[in-house]
Amino acid sequence: MIQRWHKKTQLPLLALVFFLFVLCTIFINERRFQEIHRKEIRKGDDVATRNDVKKTFSSTSTPSSLNSSHPKDRSVVLDRFSTCKSTVKYSGKKAGWDIHFDKQEERKDSCDVFSGRWVFDNTSYPLYNESDCPYMSDQLACLKHGRPDLGYQYWRWQPHGCNLKRWNATEIWDKLRGKRLMFVGDSLNRGQWISMLCLLQSVIPAEKKSITPNAPLTIFRAEEYNATIEFQWAPLLVESNSDDPVNHRLDERIMRPDSVLRHASEWKHADILIFNSYLWWRQGPVKLLWSTEENGVCEEAQGLEAMELAMDAWADWIGSNVDPLKQKVFFVTMSPTHLWSREWEAGTNGNCYSEKSPIEDEKYWGSGSDLDTMRMVENVVSWLKSKVSVINITQLSEYRKDGHPSVYRKFWEARTDEELANPMSYSDCIHWCLPGVPDVWNQLLLHFLL
Ligand SMILES: *[C@@H]1O[C@H](CO)[C@@H](O)[C@H](O)[C@H]1NC(C)=O
Ligand SMILES: *[C@@H]1O[C@H](CO)[C@@H](O)[C@H](O)[C@H]1NC(C)=O
Ligand SMILES: *[C@@H]1O[C@H](CO)[C@@H](O)[C@H](O)[C@H]1NC(C)=O
Ligand SMILES: *[C@@H]1O[C@H](CO)[C@@H](O)[C@H](O)[C@H]1NC(C)=O
Ligand SMILES: *[C@@H]1O[C@H](CO)[C@@H](O)[C@H](O)[C@H]1NC(C)=O
Ligand SMILES: *[C@@H]1O[C@H](CO)[C@@H](O)[C@H](O)[C@H]1NC(C)=O
Repeated sequence: MIQRWHKKTQLPLLALVFFLFVLCTIFINERRFQEIHRKEIRKGDDVATRNDVKKTFSSTSTPSSLNSSHPKDRSVVLDRFSTCKSTVKYSGKKAGWDIHFDKQEERKDSCDVFSGRWVFDNTSYPLYNESDCPYMSDQLACLKHGRPDLGYQYWRWQPHGCNLKRWNATEIWDKLRGKRLMFVGDSLNRGQWISMLCLLQSVIPAEKKSITPNAPLTIFRAEEYNATIEFQWAPLLVESNSDDPVNHRLDERIMRPDSVLRHASEWKHADILIFNSYLWWRQGPVKLLWSTEENGVCEEAQGLEAMELAMDAWADWIGSNVDPLKQKVFFVTMSPTHLWSREWEAGTNGNCYSEKSPIEDEKYWGSGSDLDTMRMVENVVSWLKSKVSVINITQLSEYRKDGHPSVYRKFWEARTDEELANPMSYSDCIHWCLPGVPDVWNQLLLHFLL
């Protein structure tokens, strides 16, 4: 994928190295963030909770139902210590799911809420204040980390053909009464989950809300409404060696192309599921370890091929388990990055650092959003039309070069003088400041939910 993109834009080698460096930095920081964030929210946890965590781990990590379909498999569970004994090139093998094609026509909405523009609106936005949200992450709290301009908080998404509902947290809680809302995915999805907590928590009194960190599954509870808003770490959707929410900084990615069981055991119990997956497939080749493989031989596939296998496994689970009358499922499309300012302003040589306003060109599309991936996702989701709705955030977020933390977030490595002299060299142009762009993703999600 990187090759294809390289060819297209003739990136100098240096730029490519820089890009990889930035990605690495982000993922390394990601891990540190997890560690610290977990420590923070763990404070006050008792031993019982920890044992629960352990239990959940061991019960989900030995999926006994694997026996019947794969008799040879001795439930070799992938974890961060897993290795491949050897690696061969990907053969093109598919899992051979028997996915039930969905013939139902897509619901025709009169208004495409994903097509529109950003309007400056400092009267109704932001929908909450950064410092008022107890669940804010240091990775996303830009104001706290010194961002001097507040403009990024003041933009409202205005669809071309209609208006989004006026924000009313009480009304949303009424709709969520008795329900489990679960986000499943990577750090971008976690950002959207935090945004959802910040958007909704203010109307719940402190003694009626709680958060239970449960390692791979973190649960926010609103007692009065008997409702939860949860986040499950599953960056590749399928089982992989990166499923530990804390320690997933690894030299190689190994995944099981034919098993979502580890994560899906939780999906069953949710009323509303919001999935994402994208950036983790953009870091080079991925190793496939099929459940039927007895000798530890991995196949090496390109990111997009591997993502397609994972999406197929996911689609198979959705197709055979989801009753659309009981569960609502959403897939959030790729979150754009803003790593090259020359893509929106020719002749410049920066990234998202010091960007203060959205892009106005309605056709703008950056190289970070891979069209082949988009087509693949569209294809997989089209099999499941009556069961999965797409929250197509890509185009609207493409405009928001001003929405990333850049240097205004917590970094856990000390910065060298050289880096400090050149802030662009360590800017985070992947995640999003809160309040900000993910709040609008949630408004769009709720538009379909309510
Ligand atoms: C799976 O295999 C194990 C050991 O071979 C066995 O004890 C267990 O009962 C099997 N489970 C199922 C669901 O067949
Ligand atoms: C909103 O923006 C306008 C125009 O920039 C400015 O004059 C006004 O003071 C702002 N209001 C608030 C509440 O920030
Ligand atoms: C955010 O804080 C400002 C200043 O303290 C206040 O005027 C505003 O109402 C707050 N906004 C929200 C959504 O709470
Ligand atoms: C928000 O919704 C609640 C419950 O539906 C309603 O009682 C309240 O008046 C609404 N608030 C606003 C500002 O519209
Ligand atoms: C709370 O919600 C769960 C489903 O999430 C339901 O099983 C349970 O009965 C509800 N409890 C009350 C007291 O409504
Ligand atoms: C998302 O929207 C873009 C246009 O903004 C479109 O090209 C793409 O196909 C859509 N993706 C999906 C999965 O529907």
